[in-house]
Amino acid sequence: MNRLAGDYQRTHVYAEVDYDNPKYLFQVIGDRLEQALNGRKRPRLLDVGGASGALAGYYQYRFADSQVTSLDFDAQLCEIGRQRLPGVQFIHGDANRMDMLADDSFDAVTMVGTLSVFDEFEPSMSECLRLTAPGGTVIVAGQFNSHPVDALIRYRYSGEDAWNTGYNLFSCQSVARFLDQQPMIASYQFCNFELPFDLAPQDDPIRSWTEQTSDGRRELRNGLNLVIDLKILEITL
Ligand SMILES: C[S@@+](CC[C@H](N)C(=O)[O-])C[C@H]1O[C@@H](n2cnc3c(N)ncnc32)[C@H](O)[C@@H]1O
Repeated sequence: MNRLAGDYQRTHVYAEVDYDNPKYLFQVIGDRLEQALNGRKRPRLLDVGGASGALAGYYQYRFADSQVTSLDFDAQLCEIGRQRLPGVQFIHGDANRMDMLADDSFDAVTMVGTLSVFDEFEPSMSECLRLTAPGGTVIVAGQFNSHPVDALIRYRYSGEDAWNTGYNLFSCQSVARFLDQQPMIASYQFCNFELPFDLAPQDDPIRSWTEQTSDGRRELRNGLNLVIDLKILEITL
């Protein structure tokens, strides 16, 4: 397949992590995991594409006896996480080939905002399913298209040469077709996610902001001038 090359390089964004103020999305994911884990002792949690560990740090705080692992392709972000969160295991690796981790070795695996970096959703999602124990949960949060259309997107800042990735879009329909073929899955659901507060535009036009729609919803947009359709996909094995 001939695909337009593109890089994902946002080290500067995720190096500026504020571990004390977790994103609202992380809190919603924490609520869902709390229900799914149902009081399980010493839950084993993996965050894939975990950058410098903002969500992993939140898991440590929220699930006090948990064993938390964070995996990311950006070595610099993993190192920042190791310095700041000594209780979390940081693995420098590729979400599409997590060979260093054994089958069924986690009670919950999450992947937030990372699927859109990839041109194919199946490899990383298969890996998340492989690593999750029977009865466990996989949560994939990010953009999913309600319309039956997938899109590979490359963007570049005007005046720069490099093309970037990070906003690919997979449809609920394509992902559902894949999930329906996975025998280990008991159930799954896509839930819409809406921020309960406004976000102002920032200097970097790729950072998202909110706009009010005529029917009173709060839509996420960014400088690609596309609506960002955030959903939480929760899969139970
Ligand atoms: C949009 S950021 C999301 C970070 C974090 N999950 C969050 O929600 O704040 C995407 C992350 O995926 C990581 N990433 C990119 N390619 C990856 C790969 N092949 N394997 C694992 N992580 C990858 C990036 O380094 C980055 O930290």
